Amino acid sequence: MADSQRKILVTSALPYANGSIHLGHLLEHIQTDIWTRFQRMRGHQCYSVCADDAHGTPVMLKAQELGISPEQMVEQTRAEHHQDLQDFHVEYDNYYITHSPENRELSELIYRRLNDAGYISKRTISQLYDPEKQMFLPDRFIKGTCPSCGAEDQNGDSCDVCSATYSPTEVKNPRSVVSGATPVLKDSEHYFFDLPQFEGMLKDWLKSGAIQEEMANKLQEWFEDGLQQWDISRDAPYFGFEIPDAPGKYFYVWVDAPVGYMASFKNFCDANGVDFDSFWNKGTDTELYHFIGKDITYFHCLFWPAMLEGAGFRKPTGVNVHGFVTVNGAKMSKSRGTFIKGRTYLDHLNPEYLRYYFASKLNEGVTDIDLNFEDFVTKVNSDLVGKVVNIASRCASFISKKFDGKLAAELPEPALIAEFQNASESIAQAYEKRQYNRAIREIMALADKANQYIDAQAPWVTIKDEDKQLLTQQICSLGINLFRILMVYLKPVLPKLAEQAELFLNDQLDWTSAQRVLTDHNINAFKALMQRVETDKVNAVIEASKENLQAKTAGPAPDSPLAKDPIAATIEFDDFAKVDLRIAKIAKAEHVEGADKLLRLQLDLGGETRQVFAGIKSAYQPEDLEGKLTVMVANLAPRKMRFGLSEGMVLAAGPGGKDLWILEPHEGAQPGMKVK
Ligand code: 2FM
Ligand code: ZN
Repeated sequence: MADSQRKILVTSALPYANGSIHLGHLLEHIQTDIWTRFQRMRGHQCYSVCADDAHGTPVMLKAQELGISPEQMVEQTRAEHHQDLQDFHVEYDNYYITHSPENRELSELIYRRLNDAGYISKRTISQLYDPEKQMFLPDRFIKGTCPSCGAEDQNGDSCDVCSATYSPTEVKNPRSVVSGATPVLKDSEHYFFDLPQFEGMLKDWLKSGAIQEEMANKLQEWFEDGLQQWDISRDAPYFGFEIPDAPGKYFYVWVDAPVGYMASFKNFCDANGVDFDSFWNKGTDTELYHFIGKDITYFHCLFWPAMLEGAGFRKPTGVNVHGFVTVNGAKMSKSRGTFIKGRTYLDHLNPEYLRYYFASKLNEGVTDIDLNFEDFVTKVNSDLVGKVVNIASRCASFISKKFDGKLAAELPEPALIAEFQNASESIAQAYEKRQYNRAIREIMALADKANQYIDAQAPWVTIKDEDKQLLTQQICSLGINLFRILMVYLKPVLPKLAEQAELFLNDQLDWTSAQRVLTDHNINAFKALMQRVETDKVNAVIEASKENLQAKTAGPAPDSPLAKDPIAATIEFDDFAKVDLRIAKIAKAEHVEGADKLLRLQLDLGGETRQVFAGIKSAYQPEDLEGKLTVMVANLAPRKMRFGLSEGMVLAAGPGGKDLWILEPHEGAQPGMKVK
């Protein structure tokens, strides 16, 4: 054990029980799982819990739509989510549900303590109400005309066209998304939590290092705007817990959701004889970490610590915030097939590829993590299959066939072994600080060294020399030992691969195993530990994701103004801003042998030359293009084509065939200029 045993409780944000687990969830659950597995390998007591977030209006309405009770629906979804996560080798000590007796009890307890301490007040507010459905409408269930720009069919709180934000009562011609009825204003008494009372405590807590500095700085803005009373009640009908002594009033879902962390752990403690209080009482030396996405920081870094403090519980040791997942450089998109559900991925690909890929990119920051499928295929194939597994496969057969499956009694190259062993603390620190990308970089640098050693020693040559049998056994034994140390370091990320490696090595791996070597030890026959990723399978995931959602996303809603527009799908401004358009000079244009439609262009970007294949052969002779200026997309990911690498795209317009014109900017333009 590296230091004295720590007692740690870890959570991931609770997925809502009305949708499927997708890549966005998986980034977080994989990040959490790697950290938990690492802590356990280091000998610490580390528990991890999660649950489905069962309450709220969307869950209630979805259950009605399906014609089942919300209890039934959330239990089905919980089981499905849990299975998805387990199939990605994400293991929680408990995967529970917030609609549980433990959560009701703890939510009531916290509420009563807050109420007794004077942190709860009541006030009547006026809200939009659906007279047909007889329910108050959350903002997202109201649509109407933007009060700012007049665009129709906008959300109840913000406009997608002009980005204005407003109160739902300001929306013109509002209608209820639930029934289509025109909402009316109606008064109702609400319960409020006195967040401003906690300002000083929250500021101190945020300074304590509980959250990344960049997030803590962002949170300062909320203090500058002034903390507000938090509305914690919702009126019936609502799927949730009724507030004690307040018939017809329910806890807002965000009240009992974080309490669900406690409740899931309580349920686990009761079943396993673990001391719940020592993890939640004030003044405890146990550690508590929440892993969350940046969109829910507000709830975890203001409301939640204030609720805990006000109710006399401990506050989190850390809230570990991560960014969103983008796919191929853009927001996950249903129409592009990049809004990928966990189950769709699992139907085609090995979960450890994704665990490895995310680990290779994750760090302690909150920047978004891009899953680029080309990079994904390359990285998994070259790192895991080509480097790590290859070390074992190059050495194992000699040991099995020529040396009876036995490793040599002594190993050569003590300095190389020491280098592998000495990396242990640096890699451990990287995991500890959630700098998984650094851990992976260091591990892969070692894998390169192991392969270089084997290349240089060439056991496939020495084996042929009668006098070099012992030497060959030693070389291969060292190779296998180096592989073993790498598997120790990779075990938090690749638990299944590590399990197979343990079978092959006939050994169990924890963090300290790296400090020992296996000599005079029998290993088992080597079986292929991992297959290469096939691009076809990746494409199949994308195709299946398009199909999954076709019914829902084929276009805008029939009553939307966009439905009449031939260019139906819209993108966000952020998507547009990502496109880097540049003026390029066509330095060279030529025919491509064997291609019917393509020309090969060399584009001068003012200091940089790019090769681009453009499908404009039907409209242009290469010689007519040379010297012309055009507009190109300069930051398109390079694409390997049959004829070579295409490093961008030129813009052209027209119906096609002969009627196709590449865009020719005015002569004032210069190669390399940005196009706005
Ligand atoms: O944003 C979400 O998906 C919420 N269901 C997360 C809840 S986390 C916790 F507070 F319960
Ligand atoms: Zn608008």
